[in-house]
Amino acid sequence: MKLNYPKKVYLNGAWIHPEEAKISVFDRGFLFGDGIYEVIPFYKGKLFLLTEHLDRLRYSLKEVELKCGITNFEALISKSIEEAELEKEDGAIYIQITRGMAPRTHHFPENYQATVLMYAYKAKLDNFQYKFIDTLVSTDLRWHRCDIKSVSLMANILANTEAKKEGFAENIMIRDGCFTEGSHSSLFFVKNETVYTHPNGPFILPGITRNLLIKLCKANNIEVVERALPVSELDMATEVFITGTTTQITAIKNLHFPDKILNFGEEIGKITKKLQGLFIDEVEKQIGVKI
Ligand code: PDD
Repeated sequence: MKLNYPKKVYLNGAWIHPEEAKISVFDRGFLFGDGIYEVIPFYKGKLFLLTEHLDRLRYSLKEVELKCGITNFEALISKSIEEAELEKEDGAIYIQITRGMAPRTHHFPENYQATVLMYAYKAKLDNFQYKFIDTLVSTDLRWHRCDIKSVSLMANILANTEAKKEGFAENIMIRDGCFTEGSHSSLFFVKNETVYTHPNGPFILPGITRNLLIKLCKANNIEVVERALPVSELDMATEVFITGTTTQITAIKNLHFPDKILNFGEEIGKITKKLQGLFIDEVEKQIGVKI
């Protein structure tokens, strides 16, 4: 899909054309990456898992002690779909909140006016169930608060750029001998019909799609274990997939290590397929849209 700028953005109280949207060179988001963000999907203009995404947004704000004064996120989010004229399209809302403008100091200023940016953009959210992708395995170089959706994403972008250079869309990361997650997705393995994923905590983002998937497993008698998978146990896995707001549930065909390639079959695995079907049904059940 061709990448475009949105038609309109919300910046600090006004809906304006992106060319008119200006922030200070002293914005702490620009100087320090002192800010958080959220990405919320919509299908045919209808928001999916909005409450869960807003809860995580509030969690990120709380964890970095960032006050933004916005109480009507729901209304602004709906308006962003209208402003972008995407009521009939699939896409996502991007929200970014930074600690605003202040003379540069490492500690936060006492008084500040948060910078709030929001816009809707079109994204291709159909046909994810047919993708069978290769990913690069890389070292997880991130900090110890990956549970915060921080805009400081240097380790993620370095890792993903390395993957991109080798022709892959995503990489999956290893910290202390265990798989954590992707640079912008959550990670799952299937072993003996049981689904494994890293537990929530400081080393992964509590993925909204990941949480839904765990619920779907539990409701459909698929055993799910939240435990970090050591690289040494990978040989026993028969299926690998990643999840995310725009990734949905994407099956992985080959994992590329520096010295070897591990293959997970020529066809998408049974459990992955089942979960993809359950996800599609859940979208229809919750917002009435057939993907
Ligand atoms: N990324 N892990 C990381 C590190 C992520 O950046 C994301 C999402 C996920 C999946 O989370 P969710 O299911 O809530 O989208 C896991 C977003 C989409 C992004 O950075 O654009």
